[in-house]
Amino acid sequence: MMDKSNKMISIAEKYGTPTYVYDADMITEHYLAFEKNLTIPHLICYAVKANSNIAVLQLLAKLGSGFDIVSKGELERCLHAGVDAQKIVYSGVAKSFDEIESALRAGIACFNVESLPELERIQQVAKSLNLMAPVALRVNPDVNVKTHPYIATGLKEHKFGIALEHITAIIQRLDAYSNIKLKGLACHIGSQLNELAPYQAALQRLLDLAKTVELEFIDLGGGMGITYENESPMNIQSFCSMLNEALHDKNIKLILEPGRCIVGPAGVLLTKVEYIKEQNGKRFAIVDAGMNDLARPSLYDAWHDITPLQKREGPTHNYEVVGPVCESSDVLGKNRKLAIQAGDILAIKDAGAYGQSMSSNYNSRPKCCEILLIDGKEHEVRRRETISDLFQHEKLL
Ligand code: LLP
Repeated sequence: MMDKSNKMISIAEKYGTPTYVYDADMITEHYLAFEKNLTIPHLICYAVKANSNIAVLQLLAKLGSGFDIVSKGELERCLHAGVDAQKIVYSGVAKSFDEIESALRAGIACFNVESLPELERIQQVAKSLNLMAPVALRVNPDVNVKTHPYIATGLKEHKFGIALEHITAIIQRLDAYSNIKLKGLACHIGSQLNELAPYQAALQRLLDLAKTVELEFIDLGGGMGITYENESPMNIQSFCSMLNEALHDKNIKLILEPGRCIVGPAGVLLTKVEYIKEQNGKRFAIVDAGMNDLARPSLYDAWHDITPLQKREGPTHNYEVVGPVCESSDVLGKNRKLAIQAGDILAIKDAGAYGQSMSSNYNSRPKCCEILLIDGKEHEVRRRETISDLFQHEKLL
């Protein structure tokens, strides 16, 4: 059997670079970690935004996963991938009339409602369709978390969720909404979280509220962190044990919305070193993947391991690994000790989550192709965009 680096090099040669490669076995393993360790009634609703490739959704759907969506686009991706609408929860602060109607017609499990005006809109649409809308109220639990400020979502100054002090009043008024059925309470406190304590605090707030009303489920959102550099996130086993302990006597189903921890470590972005450039005492490795392909380093100063796939003898040098985009922030890694030559392939690690799903065509760069490895065999699950794909929706006058 080919070793992993050689397999990646052969994929880079066959499909070109930059290319995302995902490992189906790892995705499966990460999903099953929840299934194996949760002993209470539950539904894992994978957060589609982390990686929305339809083959990834299909793989998870076959394992029995549910899905957390935030747009009609994600709804349609799920339905196209064969997802059972009854396993879809719909989050997001700005659901449009059209999105609500589509989700109601599809028969999703639940809308996670983020405001009173949204609740009123869902009531209005459901009434016009003569349907009952299942909802959970997304609570803003005002819990502080240690993560990048752009991906913390559970503090009261954030746009997400309904303020704790408004929830009870809304629950009491729900009878006035003839086409709304309250199913649960939800929250999502942030992403790339490493500690159990904020989850415990948020869960406690939901459980306190749950005493006042009959509910089918509590949705604790996603956010479980992974190791990019030297973080030590709680492991999924201890996370699940905490939840088993907290909920085993509560007669309530648990929903979780993990995204990153399922797909993040299962993906790499392969990129080729186009040039090595030395000036002013600095060495740049100029690669063919840019901030348009992987936005996380430039957007959040995020660290991704960068590993050369060809093993070179000789000294390592300190490199700034930069992309082709015309922005100084187009840096994929700083201070990387590498022994590389132009033409080498680098693997940017842990890029399976919020990689391709956040990519853009900036600088008129076609989006990458995506490869799914199943039992070591590669499947092209998205072809590389062509140059004509780039302006196919535009018109000359
Ligand atoms: N549920 C809701 C309502 C969310 O907003 C999110 C992520 C998730 C679940 C999944 O969270 P996860 O388990 O993946 O942490 N682009 C950023 C992450 C943004 C997360 C947004 N919401 C990044 O690249 O780090």
